Amino acid sequence: MVKTVLLHVICGVLAVLSVSLVNADDPYRYYTWTVTYGTLYPLGVPQQVILINGQFPGPRLDVVTNDNIVLNLINKLDQPFLLTWNGIKQRKNSWQDGVLGTNCPIPPNSNYTYNFQPKDQIGTFTYFPSTLLHKAAGGYGGLNVYERPSIPIPFPNPDGDFTLLIGDWYKTSHKTLQQSLDSGKSLPFPDGVLINGQGHTTFSGDQGKTYMFRISNVGLSTSINFRIQGHTLKLVEVEGSHTLQGIYDSLDVHVGQSIAVLVTLNQAPKDYYIVASTRFTKNVLTASAVLHYSNSQSAVSGPLPAGPTDQFHWSMEQARTFRWNLTASAARPNPQGSFHYGKITTTKTIVLANSAPLINGKQRYAVNGISYINADTPLKLADYFNIPGVFSMSSIQGLPGGPASIATSVMPANLHDFIEVVFQNNEKTIQSWHLDGYDFWVVGYGSGQWTSAKRSTYNLVDALTRHTAQVYPNSWTTIFVSLDNQGMWNVRSANWERQYLGQQFYLRVWTSVHSLANEYNIPTNALLCGRAVGRHP
Ligand SMILES: *[C@@H]1O[C@H](CO)[C@@H](O)[C@H](O)[C@H]1NC(C)=O
Ligand SMILES: *[C@@H]1O[C@H](CO)[C@@H](O)[C@H](O)[C@H]1NC(C)=O
Repeated sequence: MVKTVLLHVICGVLAVLSVSLVNADDPYRYYTWTVTYGTLYPLGVPQQVILINGQFPGPRLDVVTNDNIVLNLINKLDQPFLLTWNGIKQRKNSWQDGVLGTNCPIPPNSNYTYNFQPKDQIGTFTYFPSTLLHKAAGGYGGLNVYERPSIPIPFPNPDGDFTLLIGDWYKTSHKTLQQSLDSGKSLPFPDGVLINGQGHTTFSGDQGKTYMFRISNVGLSTSINFRIQGHTLKLVEVEGSHTLQGIYDSLDVHVGQSIAVLVTLNQAPKDYYIVASTRFTKNVLTASAVLHYSNSQSAVSGPLPAGPTDQFHWSMEQARTFRWNLTASAARPNPQGSFHYGKITTTKTIVLANSAPLINGKQRYAVNGISYINADTPLKLADYFNIPGVFSMSSIQGLPGGPASIATSVMPANLHDFIEVVFQNNEKTIQSWHLDGYDFWVVGYGSGQWTSAKRSTYNLVDALTRHTAQVYPNSWTTIFVSLDNQGMWNVRSANWERQYLGQQFYLRVWTSVHSLANEYNIPTNALLCGRAVGRHP
């Protein structure tokens, strides 16, 4: 684009204008969201929840690829607050990622206007609070990015579109849960599972028609299995990838993940159970909702459809069947498989092992022995203003080992590298890993210790890209990442206790070439805090 090329030669004075100029063709959508506490009865007892514009879950963001979202978030809580946009890649724009390594939290009775674009993305995403244990009180919602009319999706447009936010839930307030973690104790087992914030939701459709169900696991720690009585699920999309459209009786969705399925109402006209139940837990928690045929002649009946009884093996086998449809279009008018990720030589291998050490007598979680703590200043701002002493780029290594310790850990990486990351889980619990700023190819799952010999088992042809990958107990998962997005990016456990107690770090994707083609300038409204107070964006 001529416009873009021209901008590169214009000096920094105009830099702030560049974001709006480059995207001038794409529509703007304006939102004002106010975050408050409220009292609701999600599991039948009154409790404090976090509302956005009075709603729990928060308002659904329905946008189109490349829309410019201008969202003024007003914090009326008694604690600092941020939302993060789970799976939105924030191209060149980690300034808007909404995590404490990139943004100052919005103080109580204050606001911040996010300005971002779901660039070249289509699919099912979510947003949620990244601060403290706010996620345990709600504040989350669906974020659906629809295709532009000029680019067909690889399935007929469904007759309707339902967003299901499913997650484990506690009757205990987020502050009490946080105190428990601060004192060095783990969270107890959850009290229940919610579907869209409730125990009883009804989704209605017409017999013979086909509906999309967008399912996201917005819980704190528990994998779920999703199924619908008497109906099969056709998987069509996973976190922005169009999949081979396999037919499933039920699907596992791990914390932080999203999938979209098509369901045809091809059964007798009655009501059917929609079920979500916890996976890999000693006690199984179950939530149900209702699929109502508009011509239904009877209420839901019969036992709830049973979930898988096999534990990890079944789930890993299922995960391997999630594959890219290479001929399907993506958000841009080219087939998904046109970038041959399997033919690119990786420049580096990083092995990340999770652990649960006691440090100073308290429960912590760590990556390669390092348990992350937030700094007093967002790392991104420290980097930009050259404030020394906020983080260390040598505190975390790319291989497991070493004694457990606490640090504000940042791993350096080169822009345009193509890396292999192995998540090695030597613990007995399932892990869920998320990377901000990217989606990545999940090329392999296996049990035991990863060795370079496991590379022969990788799917180098049609692995799908996603933003959150599960790692089974005493197993490994390998991803390939094309580091094409400069910024300071959070790598974290999507299990919120683990994230809160240190199982995270930041990946600083960097080049010495300073160019707006690689990264946007700091937003003029950036909040400043800690050692960045008084600096000028
Ligand atoms: C707070 O909201 C006002 C409009 O009410 C807006 O002008 C201002 O830029 C917002 N502050 C930030 C930091 O985005
Ligand atoms: C792959 O996508 C194409 C559309 O490009 C579609 O016609 C085909 O049915 C899809 N294949 C599978 C197996 O899902």
